[in-house]
Amino acid sequence: MRYEVVLPAAGSGKRMGAGKNKLFLLLQQKPILIHTLEVFQNDDNCTGIWLAVKPEEREYIQQLLDEYGITKVKGLPNGGEERQHSVHSCIKEMEQVDIVLVHDAARPFITHEIIASLVVCAMEKGAAIAGVKAKDTMKKVRDGVIIETVDREDLWMIQTPQAFRFELLYEAEDVAEKEGFLGTDEAMLVERLGHPVHIVEASYDNIKMTTIEDLVLGEAILKKRA
Ligand code: C5P
Repeated sequence: MRYEVVLPAAGSGKRMGAGKNKLFLLLQQKPILIHTLEVFQNDDNCTGIWLAVKPEEREYIQQLLDEYGITKVKGLPNGGEERQHSVHSCIKEMEQVDIVLVHDAARPFITHEIIASLVVCAMEKGAAIAGVKAKDTMKKVRDGVIIETVDREDLWMIQTPQAFRFELLYEAEDVAEKEGFLGTDEAMLVERLGHPVHIVEASYDNIKMTTIEDLVLGEAILKKRA
């Protein structure tokens, strides 16, 4: 089942504290960004990649694409102030496709199997997102004091990819933009339309490279897979 993917890559990676875009940091001598791109480059069902980039990084990213033979990129639009804006700038440039995936460029360990499950579910149901069950006891805290212990059975930690029928995500983003709503993921925008969003159980390995400790974890995941 065919799809195109939007990869927001225009963040600053402040929490990584690397002094540059964290996506350029290396895991096993290869930039994180390339690890992520290669998953989609090597997935026969992926027919196009849209990468939101910072204007000042476009030239370097283009060099990386050439160096590593990433040929599926159809556009490198400017990212925005927030991640949601970066995704939106890609969606606005895309031609209509059946299914669009949104995936953080900072999650290099996504697998073809999880992608395929998401695409199938989104084809059938409109919206499907990756997540894993919460493992720890979960509590709501305010001002340093527990106000509620939440039933863990109902709690999932949400990741990307998030897969949608194209028209559904387009409408959700359009409405959010008009209403000035800022969500933390694309599913939130679709939920606001009242459309059900389904969950596909993904993997605890599908981490987002966020802080320096994640680099150690990332190396370990790659070693485990070798
Ligand atoms: O900062 P964080 O890791 O949560 O960002 C998730 C993804 O969104 C990263 O791949 C980052 O490059 C991207 N992003 C973006 N535009 C922004 C902020 C983040 O494309 N304004």
